[in-house]
Amino acid sequence: MRRSAFVRDGLAALSAAAIPTLSSRASAADVVDYVLTAAPMQFSAAPGVNASSLAYNGTLPGPVLRVMHGQRVRVRYHNRTAEPTTVHWHGMILPNAMDGVAGVTQPAVPPGGSFVYEFVPAPAGTRWYHDHAPGLAVMRGLFGMFVVEDPRDERADAEFAIVLHDIPRPSSIEAAMRGVSDAPMVDPLGSPELKEMRPNDRMGDEVAYVAHCINGACYPKTAPLRVNVGQRVRLRILNANQTQTRYVRLAGHRLHVTHSDGNRLPRPLDVDALRIGVAERYDAWFEVRKAGSWLLQGLSSDPLVYEQAVVVHTPGMENATPEASTETLEGVDFLTYEKAGGVMHGRSVNTAATVSKYYVLSGGEYASSRWSMNHKIWPNTEKIHVRHGDEVVVRFKNTTDMDHPMHLHGHVFDVVEIDGRALRFPLPKDVSLVRAYGGTVTWRFRADSPPGRWLLHCHNQIHMMDGMMTEVVYG
Ligand code: C2O
Ligand code: CU
Repeated sequence: MRRSAFVRDGLAALSAAAIPTLSSRASAADVVDYVLTAAPMQFSAAPGVNASSLAYNGTLPGPVLRVMHGQRVRVRYHNRTAEPTTVHWHGMILPNAMDGVAGVTQPAVPPGGSFVYEFVPAPAGTRWYHDHAPGLAVMRGLFGMFVVEDPRDERADAEFAIVLHDIPRPSSIEAAMRGVSDAPMVDPLGSPELKEMRPNDRMGDEVAYVAHCINGACYPKTAPLRVNVGQRVRLRILNANQTQTRYVRLAGHRLHVTHSDGNRLPRPLDVDALRIGVAERYDAWFEVRKAGSWLLQGLSSDPLVYEQAVVVHTPGMENATPEASTETLEGVDFLTYEKAGGVMHGRSVNTAATVSKYYVLSGGEYASSRWSMNHKIWPNTEKIHVRHGDEVVVRFKNTTDMDHPMHLHGHVFDVVEIDGRALRFPLPKDVSLVRAYGGTVTWRFRADSPPGRWLLHCHNQIHMMDGMMTEVVYG
């Protein structure tokens, strides 16, 4: 007989840092039931910033959903917003009909409508969920973290979900889509992004953000992470900003990185800072060696980004001034794909495959509303046709002036090449940045996911809505 455990809506209240542990009843159940209700919410992020947001279960970000690997989940979704929406399960390999892409895998759920998503969340790791209908619902707050607990993982003494997100100025979204936004690029001092920018480059494609949050609040209102001396702490970090890469640092600590996009790295590594593209996740551990108070920060050169911080402190240190990181990345050892994967000098990439596809990422000129792949925009882009069992190689070359976080639904791929250099330890990911001004990336994956239509697109919401999207089609 199938048992079912009902996890109450009230879980939403815990969406802030601490990841709710499953009650023993829920973890023994074959099916975990969740209810997600999307509805409008006034979100007072920071003084003077009152955003008309959308939220799941009244919290922004949505509740952290959590199951044990192997458990089935049933999510009853209710759309109480005024626009058509869906829920996409980012990073999951699941039946295509459950993938939640409006107009591709299901009709959008209309205002007032409902839909039941049911599947076995896999693979294990740090995943997330978000709206996937044309429109701005995802930029207005419809996203949350989804943890599929891996029984093989080492146990942490404490574990926290960290969702970085920002509040866009609505008028700037529309301007960015037409390529005429005046919002500046905000890459931090000392970042490779800033170094490679061409003087007088007129971007026009960036969104302006009016508040910078972690787990639904801006510093100093963010809920502190309480830790104890001697603890080994695991952070599951998601960049839910829809257009910008973030660097993330914890003052006074190195971070031990074990997973990229929820997938175990072939070789863990230690860094001072993470560089997290849109939609990417990293699992990073640190050890609390002494009593203290430190800031975990999102870094950019936006003057308001100091809001994107949360205090990590040991008992009795709640009133201490937290140690902060320098604003520049100059001399800071931050994570790159090359460091994580190890470059094989002089080796070329093995591109033998049964299906291979090459995309030039193109478009995005000033005052243009086209971001393209091989100069075509969705739905007229070139698709990748595969048969079950194919070995697929996809190569990207980015000829534009912005990085593109390219994402594939329903698969985990290996990043095997970056900017012309083969990686010794391919990185298992579901989204990977392709660097501006000529950057290249090669993915390899086996077409062994359930049959159907799996989107492949830039996860910058502006670029996606402006056409940088295609699909991998089985059969
Ligand atoms: Cu995070 Cu098309 O998805
Ligand atoms: Cu893009």
